[in-house]
Amino acid sequence: MAPRPVYFDCDTGIDDALALVYLMASPEIELAGIGTVSGNIDAKQAAVNTLDLLAMGGKTEVPVAVGAMDPLTHSFSGGVPHIHGHNGVGDVELPHTDRKPETESAADMLVRLAHEHPGELDVIAIGPLTNLAIALKQDPSIAELVHEVYIMGGAALVPGNLSAVGEANIWNDPEAAQAVVEAPWQVVLVPLDVTLENAFEESDREALAASDSALNRALADILNLYFDFYVGEYGRRMCALHDPLAAAIAVGQITATRAPNVPVVVDDTQGPGRGQTICDLRGQRTGTHDVEGAHVRVVLDTDQQLGPVLLARLLDYAG
Ligand code: RIB
Ligand code: CA
Repeated sequence: MAPRPVYFDCDTGIDDALALVYLMASPEIELAGIGTVSGNIDAKQAAVNTLDLLAMGGKTEVPVAVGAMDPLTHSFSGGVPHIHGHNGVGDVELPHTDRKPETESAADMLVRLAHEHPGELDVIAIGPLTNLAIALKQDPSIAELVHEVYIMGGAALVPGNLSAVGEANIWNDPEAAQAVVEAPWQVVLVPLDVTLENAFEESDREALAASDSALNRALADILNLYFDFYVGEYGRRMCALHDPLAAAIAVGQITATRAPNVPVVVDDTQGPGRGQTICDLRGQRTGTHDVEGAHVRVVLDTDQQLGPVLLARLLDYAG
């Protein structure tokens, strides 16, 4: 089967880096283009990080476009250095490539790729959804052209992480997220409900550190700061696999076992609920029931733990 074309939108960040290398290692898909957005770090630095990781993995043909530096309605708040480092990759200095980003914007790249791959392009979005919202506004027909939109974001039945109810990717640009969930395309939402249940442990990080691949050793270094941050959440050094889980579901290595298509709205008011993904999960007690006309599949359970699958693919990847 020919690899499926993918547009990848990221705020490369530490778990974004894991997801990127996993996608580089996945023969099921072809990275047709990558767009960056401000979130964990600003979009420009996210593009530098992405280009450096692509070069370390030998994927220097993949185009990278810098996307939105600011959310739709306010200014970028400057990232989260205590989680992802001041440079977005755990303050690790990666070998620097001299490759530059494309001149087109991320939104222009997405619109172009949707038309170049009608009915086939999958979108994997693992940062704030600003670029997708801009692309939809620019050319609403992409909602008919794109095959599926996999999003790491939201919290259905669990608390948020950036606020009591807001998950970071949604909370950072609720207006963009609302535009994305209301557009008439098929979304697969991979929320904190499942991403916080999938983890890398110290043993996984050490396996990467012992790898003969410089890229895997760099990932092990990058993960250190992230592991320190997650002591607060899990009580020990480890990390959640937010972005890699969305990537693995898109690739097909992890299967969503409970994922009803239900109405989802994003609270884009200025109140305490701002950034909440309000998923209407009524009527799901007797099994998984799709709601007529709904087009956001909310992933609530998966068939297996991602950790071992992710580690195996990273260790196998020669790049
Ligand atoms: O809430 C987790 C999400 O926010 C992940 O995509 C992480 O990289 C950050 O962007
Ligand atoms: Ca991310």
